[in-house]
Amino acid sequence: MVQIDMPVVGEYKPGLEGIPATQSNISFIDGQQGILEYRGINIHELCAQGSFLETCYLLIFGYLPTAHRLEEFNQDIIFRRRIKYRIRDMIKCFPDRGHPMDALQTCVAGLGMFYPLSNYHDADYIYDASTRLIGKVPTMVAAFNMMRQGNDPVMPRDDLTYAGNFLYMLNERAPDPFAAKVFDTCLILHAEHTVNASTFCALVTASTLNDPYVVLASAIGTLGGPLHGGANERVMQMLEEIGSVENVKPYLEERLERKERIMGFGHRVYKVKDPRAVILQGLAEQLFDRFGHDRYYDIALELERQATDKLAERGIYANVDFYSGLVYKKLGVPIDLFTTIFAIARVAGWLAHWKEQLADNRLFRPTQVYTGLRHVKYLPISERESLS
Ligand code: SDX
Repeated sequence: MVQIDMPVVGEYKPGLEGIPATQSNISFIDGQQGILEYRGINIHELCAQGSFLETCYLLIFGYLPTAHRLEEFNQDIIFRRRIKYRIRDMIKCFPDRGHPMDALQTCVAGLGMFYPLSNYHDADYIYDASTRLIGKVPTMVAAFNMMRQGNDPVMPRDDLTYAGNFLYMLNERAPDPFAAKVFDTCLILHAEHTVNASTFCALVTASTLNDPYVVLASAIGTLGGPLHGGANERVMQMLEEIGSVENVKPYLEERLERKERIMGFGHRVYKVKDPRAVILQGLAEQLFDRFGHDRYYDIALELERQATDKLAERGIYANVDFYSGLVYKKLGVPIDLFTTIFAIARVAGWLAHWKEQLADNRLFRPTQVYTGLRHVKYLPISERESLS
């Protein structure tokens, strides 16, 4: 008898909770201690001493670049920041009220049509695709943002840093260098996070040997969900709904009463405050000290205090999305672009996992626990009416 499905060899765990889907040496999380390391380097060190582009190189190629190599990498990305006019023309056709994550997913998938997959084992192909995606994703996000307002897109500037250039393309004003540095740190913090939902999606698509543009388009689609990268936008909406520090208590009690989730809280792996949330909170405070306070920060602090009181015993604390929106809002980023910023940063992690998967590929094809009927007789349609 032909085996119609592989025998179930492991216990079924909803959401594959706790089930290793791959082996990887890209990043490491200790969810009990609140530790995150990229290629063994703690994110606190990378945030304090490194840059986002240096972090991209570390994640994708596995080691910190020399000054010369980093400058070459930087120039290759600067050279690839611009987008083809056909991509701009495609963006012109998007509805102004379309969500920026949908626009980005469409652009990235479309980008791949201009660069057909040659030899995915070829180091030059991997390098070119990586620098092209790192260079072009921010430009496409900023182009959609300008064009949905009826403006021409802002051309990238070669003299600005990666982070500074994105802020510039949002509103054609050169950003304050301190603000650009804070934004660069936000990108480092969002660059990679082991096998989260969108990276797992990237791995599955990569294992089919499709091209990196499709791999990233599928990951972008996954990241946009409110339980994943879409939470940062919803945190800001939640803070606006609460409206005042006094309203935190009734809002929180009502939401928990209705069994609704507090956006920006909880994590599948961290059972303490997300180390990224700790750093992002500090960045928010630095921005407020320099550019003026944001009343939503007071609401966020009170919400975190009360939500932690109620949820900590279940290992539910603030995660990366809880404070990131306050930073982006202070940097002048529209709320519905918050998740696209998460995507801009996570391009590095997705590319690193794509490359790692290709090096030792096996098509992802899990099994299932079948709970349906077997050997059911086909019923002619004339005999079905009586059953409905
Ligand atoms: C990211 O995986 C990653 O690494 C992701 C990420 C990355 O860098 O890629 O870190 C980025 O996605 C961060 C998470 C952003 N999402 C949110 O902030 C949305 C709100 N958070 C939750 O929906 C939730 O905490 C998850 C989805 C993040 C994790 O949930 P789990 O591990 O699947 O836990 P669960 O849904 O099984 O919840 C267990 C219990 C439930 O209660 P019971 O049904 O058992 O009574 O905890 C409760 C949940 O209701 N719970 C919450 C809660 N999160 C979990 N209750 C209130 N508020 C919350 N936020």
